[in-house]
Amino acid sequence: MSNIGTILIIDDNPTNLEVLYATLASTGYEIILEMNGEDGIKQAAQQQPDLILLDIMMPGIDGFETCCKLQSNLTTLSIPIIFMTALSDTEHKIKGLSLGAVDYITKPFQQEEVLARVNVHLKLKRATDELEQQVQERTNSLVQTLHSLKQMQLQLVQNEKMSALGQLVAGIAHEINNPMGCINGNFALMEANFKELFQIIDSYEKEVSQPSIGLQQKIEAIDLNYLRSDFPKMFESTHTAIDRIKDISDSLRIFSRADTTHPILFNIHEGIDSTILILKHRLKASDTYPEIEVIKEYADLPLIKCYPGQLNQVFMNIIANAIDALEEASLNQSNHNQHQIRLKTALAENEQSILIYIQDNGIGINDKIKNQIFEHLFTTKEVGKGTGLGLAIAHQIIIEKHHGSIEVNSETGKGTEFLITLPIHQ
Ligand SMILES: Nc1ncnc2c1ncn2[C@@H]1O[C@H](COP(=O)(O)OP(=O)(O)OP(=O)(O)O)[C@@H](O)[C@H]1O
Ligand SMILES: [Mg+2]
Repeated sequence: MSNIGTILIIDDNPTNLEVLYATLASTGYEIILEMNGEDGIKQAAQQQPDLILLDIMMPGIDGFETCCKLQSNLTTLSIPIIFMTALSDTEHKIKGLSLGAVDYITKPFQQEEVLARVNVHLKLKRATDELEQQVQERTNSLVQTLHSLKQMQLQLVQNEKMSALGQLVAGIAHEINNPMGCINGNFALMEANFKELFQIIDSYEKEVSQPSIGLQQKIEAIDLNYLRSDFPKMFESTHTAIDRIKDISDSLRIFSRADTTHPILFNIHEGIDSTILILKHRLKASDTYPEIEVIKEYADLPLIKCYPGQLNQVFMNIIANAIDALEEASLNQSNHNQHQIRLKTALAENEQSILIYIQDNGIGINDKIKNQIFEHLFTTKEVGKGTGLGLAIAHQIIIEKHHGSIEVNSETGKGTEFLITLPIHQ
């Protein structure tokens, strides 16, 4: 016969046990018998019966105390208890129910009554268990949904922030590039033409040894010899300036690199440099803030397989936070040191990943909030200044997109260090 339920009977009277056993076992219930409270409690925890029939008057701990102990233990808490009491003993019945028993049966036992009550309570117990399980399943799925909604929101904000900024930057790079192409091409031609013009002037000077007074005066007025020696220098410095603008425009393009659907090889240092370039205006001294010095300590790193646009966003979020922390330090006047952001990279010892340290000597992070900073929407900044998404996005990109890790070390008043570890191969 399949098990339709397990019942634990705790009673010190063998006759009672016998009668109950006979009644219930014949109906198909599995029966466990115990003759005192302590053993009953142990059995209940081990066997997890569906129902407990509990006598009140027993040597050792009595039924009430047994009941209390069963109810205070998490593993036995939800097992329904039915007290067994003498017919006339109203006081016991009330006390038992008030202690959390679900019912009572009276002695001497009426077989049919016992069976009927046991059946009802087992049914109730089963229904309750099912309900609880359903609630648990629902809760789990709601928690899951909430989690994925939060992730989705991060993704959306991240995409939107990034694509707006990326488009702007890409647009600027494009606008700079077209006129720069023209300047660069014409300038090379101009340089060649000027060289030829000077060659012709040189030839004229050789052929015409006695120029007119008027011409001699003009030559002196423009200081032809000085021009001849100065032109190459002017051309060289202009070439340098043109190269500089080309570098800037390249950086802008690297920063705004449209995100690929699969990881590509990328030079992390280019990403960090282009981010610094985008944030450059915030590094300069202003009326309120001193200049921020950026110190780079780059190691010799291999290219890594990654999503460059997203990593740039991580650098952006962390470096922007560092700048915020330094600005706050100067408002608090808590920090008179030169404001610094140190960007350090290294190859991990196992040579399978790279390490990126981003340090600032700003206000630092209070120990009390250190474990909250990566949480969605956690911010200490005033409304309009911080949304509390920067580090949550960074965390998601590093952990979920790149299977790396991100840690923070900080001391209030001294500064903060973020350490990002990224695998070289995804
Ligand atoms: N370098 C840092 N120094 C001090 N505190 C920091 C630093 N970086 C982060 N924090 C703390 O962590 C909090 C969360 O940072 P997070 O970048 O996620 O949000 P936020 O900067 O407040 O807003 P935003 O969404 O605009 O980035 C900050 O409000 C700040 O309290
Ligand atoms: Mg931030």
